[in-house]
Amino acid sequence: MNTSNCKNCEEEEEEVPPQTLRTAEPRSATFIEGIKFAQENFRAKPDDIFLCSFPKSGTTWLKALSFATATRTRFHNSENPLLTKSPHDCIPFLEVYFNKNPTMLESLDPPLWSTHIPYSSLPKSIIDSGCKIVYICRDPKDAFVSLWHFRKRIESHNPGIIFEEAFEMFCKGSSFYAPYWEHFLGYWKASLEFPDRVLFLKYEEMMEDTALYLKRLAEFIGHPFSLQEENEGVVQNIVDLCSFENLSNLEVNKSGKRDCIVVNNNAFFRKGKVGDWKNYLTSEMAERLDKIIEEKFAGSGFKF
Ligand code: A3P
Repeated sequence: MNTSNCKNCEEEEEEVPPQTLRTAEPRSATFIEGIKFAQENFRAKPDDIFLCSFPKSGTTWLKALSFATATRTRFHNSENPLLTKSPHDCIPFLEVYFNKNPTMLESLDPPLWSTHIPYSSLPKSIIDSGCKIVYICRDPKDAFVSLWHFRKRIESHNPGIIFEEAFEMFCKGSSFYAPYWEHFLGYWKASLEFPDRVLFLKYEEMMEDTALYLKRLAEFIGHPFSLQEENEGVVQNIVDLCSFENLSNLEVNKSGKRDCIVVNNNAFFRKGKVGDWKNYLTSEMAERLDKIIEEKFAGSGFKF
């Protein structure tokens, strides 16, 4: 692998676990088929809630927090399904699971879905039904670095993925779902237009004060915490349950596998830190990506 300019790539070489995905083609074909099927067949209900994100922006964490919040009166802490199931098995990806199991439409309880589909490509019924959307965004530098590690782990067909080439592609907007900025701006504009329907969360802010944003999330998805719950420590219990340290050390997330897409659960947990990009991107790379984002976001009113 050519990692000559990547600041820390060599020390990361050892970390790559056994490969888990078979080939690129079946995977992209599966996703595209899944997106198309959802666009044609998914009929959202007004109480459905969509957790949306650009890959590697904190989807797993958002799923865990939302699931634990929405089911908190059903499960005692020690019985929470998050202790034995991946957050991705608690809240399905629309484009991965729905075409394999269309009856999910009726049976999903709580009605929480997730997707990486860009806003402009969402099934029309999601927009028309007025159901709620939560978008989590992350500094693109960290999202890129996280994505690169994830790809190294899962792309057995592509062991020589070169850091600089991957960065170049990211900067040119070549990403699996959409260019980072298009993905982001689609949801950002929707959140400005429909603030009651689209909640925008930032990974970095959530890391700084998870309890505060968890309360906002709970309110938005229709499961607000009562004062009594807050006093009894329910908010903090959910923050702790869903923390990187706790989830990443659970057996299911260390060694478990999921049947629908062949990705080891541990591929979704790496470091869970803000600013890890500093260990991988040179200052020139960071400046370049910042400049692209500044230009693309000009006039949007959003700043990282
Ligand atoms: P890093 O690779 O920077 O560590 P996604 O869930 O969208 O695939 O994003 C994965 C990123 O979120 C990874 O980032 C992963 O470590 C981090 N992550 C996973 N679970 C987390 C949690 N409970 N809290 C904070 N970050 C988490």
